[in-house]
Amino acid sequence: MNIIKCNTCFLLVMVTILAMTHFLSGCSMIYDGKKLFFEEGCSQCHTFKGKGGRMGPDLSAVTNTRSDGWIESYIHDPKKENPQARMPSFNKLSSSKRKAIIAFLKN
Ligand code: HEC
Repeated sequence: MNIIKCNTCFLLVMVTILAMTHFLSGCSMIYDGKKLFFEEGCSQCHTFKGKGGRMGPDLSAVTNTRSDGWIESYIHDPKKENPQARMPSFNKLSSSKRKAIIAFLKN
């Protein structure tokens, strides 16, 4: 009987720890993405929720209309998606940095 209780308890603790780690890593990704958005200069051309420049479109709701894959590709090489793109390519950003920016844009 006690052994069963102990196992259930252990499982609950593990699930809680996993859920918390998942939540915290999500938070830190959004935080990194926010930092990158301002440090890499996206904010000089794009407004996000009221803050930023005006050369490019407002990105506050871009994740409602564009898929993650499309946005990632646009950041990496805008001309691939749009031959007339005026946005510079950010192909020096690693895939995990691009993903962090997208996590921030979804937030
Ligand atoms: C020098 C100005 C400039 C900078 C810096 C810039 N962009 Fe852009 N961006 C634009 C312009 C202008 C467009 C509109 C399409 C075009 O001409 O490329 C655009 C379009 C986009 C789009 C597509 C929006 C849509 O729905 O069509 C996304 C997503 C985007 N930018 C994200 C970013 C991110 C993320 C960064 C930073 C890593 C960034 N941009 C940096 C100017 C810029």
